[in-house]
Amino acid sequence: MRNVLPVGKQLLRLSQQPYKKGAVCAASAMSGNKFRLPDRYNAQPSVWVEYIQLALEHKPLNLGQGFPDYPPPDYVTNGLAEVTTGENVLLNQYTRGFGHPRLVNALSKLYSQLIGREINPQSEIMVTTGAYEALFSTILGHTNPGEEVIIIEPFFDCYEAMVQAAGGVARFIPLKPKKTTGTIMSSDWVLDPAELESLFNEKTKAIILNTPHNPLGKVFNQQELEMIANLCKKWNVLCIADEVYEWLVYKPYKHIRIATLPGMWERTITIGSAGKTFSVTGWKIGWAYGPAQLMKNLQAVHQNCVYTCSTPLQEAVARGFELELKRLGQPDCYFVSLPQELEAKRDYMAKFLSDVGMVPTIPEGGYFMIADWSALEKKVNLSEENDRWKDYRFTKWMSKNVKLQGIPPSAFYSEPHKPLAENYVRYCFIKKDENLQKAEEILQKWKASS
Ligand SMILES: Cc1ncc(COP(=O)(O)O)c(C=O)c1O
Repeated sequence: MRNVLPVGKQLLRLSQQPYKKGAVCAASAMSGNKFRLPDRYNAQPSVWVEYIQLALEHKPLNLGQGFPDYPPPDYVTNGLAEVTTGENVLLNQYTRGFGHPRLVNALSKLYSQLIGREINPQSEIMVTTGAYEALFSTILGHTNPGEEVIIIEPFFDCYEAMVQAAGGVARFIPLKPKKTTGTIMSSDWVLDPAELESLFNEKTKAIILNTPHNPLGKVFNQQELEMIANLCKKWNVLCIADEVYEWLVYKPYKHIRIATLPGMWERTITIGSAGKTFSVTGWKIGWAYGPAQLMKNLQAVHQNCVYTCSTPLQEAVARGFELELKRLGQPDCYFVSLPQELEAKRDYMAKFLSDVGMVPTIPEGGYFMIADWSALEKKVNLSEENDRWKDYRFTKWMSKNVKLQGIPPSAFYSEPHKPLAENYVRYCFIKKDENLQKAEEILQKWKASS
């Protein structure tokens, strides 16, 4: 006889019966709207999923994703090997949920110096599964349904989805270039102060500030930070400072932590990443620090989500910090040598993109570069691709036909503002010199072809 019970009752009946072959068929009747993704999750396709697949299929030289294609420093990877095989076997077991003691102590030493106040390792720091989870715990731990979160465009794409998952409302403001010809620096991309002010109101809960910025490489200056800080104080708003590229700043620019501005410590959660700090993006260890009364909110999300992060990875990151703390600011400190090494790669990429006819924005920080490719439009057959936005068509066509992959920056804009990004592509320059040279050769060959 046909089973006419509603799905819920079928499941109840199934759960009360001993297992019988064929019972799975009844379970597969679980279909229809009841099991669709909850509305609070953004079901938009992710640019990463799509472009990783594209790279697998067409095997281009991949300058899309943000990670080094060369080994991390030896002391970091050897440190992890020692941790997992050393005498203290307990380092392979669970550790404290809000952060492995040795790591929170090292982070406390470091950031107490940098922020200019004593940061309590137990109550004012939390270790997370990458900066990604720090963002998630901060946003979910503070946003009530209907509250507004201001996001500066272009933005790291998960910000919008996380605000939506919390039931919040994302309000967007784009950075816009003051000029579009000649040498363009990322400092030429600015916020309109009046437009920013107009977004603040009684419903504003937080603003997300990413400095140094992905993908522009902008390092927000003192004046820009003061403008943001003053609005946060005026409207009693939380500042979520995503500072994962804090050590990747090129001369003569300086990274200023917004938490150091007057009246900002008490309303700022600052986020960092071991992946970016030690060039080990696969380790997925991050952290957040801020005043204890705000950190409690993150802890509540974290303890009911991942609860605790990998012990050996935290121990190895702690040892890395202990070493760097001894040589902080000195030429052999990794936080000094890495940006120096990257500056040369940045300049090399800027030159070969310019030589081929693109207009790069020279980043002051981070390891991404965006470039305006519109002068080359006649060399690309955009009609071979179907995407709505031109930067998607350009990057796909380039991956398939020229064999060089970049990322379409419109992925980092809200729907109404995506046209602002259509003429741009994002490339990553934390790559082996030989791969950057290959990218140059590929583009030169393409330029010379008819
Ligand atoms: C701006 C920004 N925030 C956060 C993250 C996430 O960092 P993690 O890999 O530590 O989760 C990234 C990674 O690319 C990023 O670019």
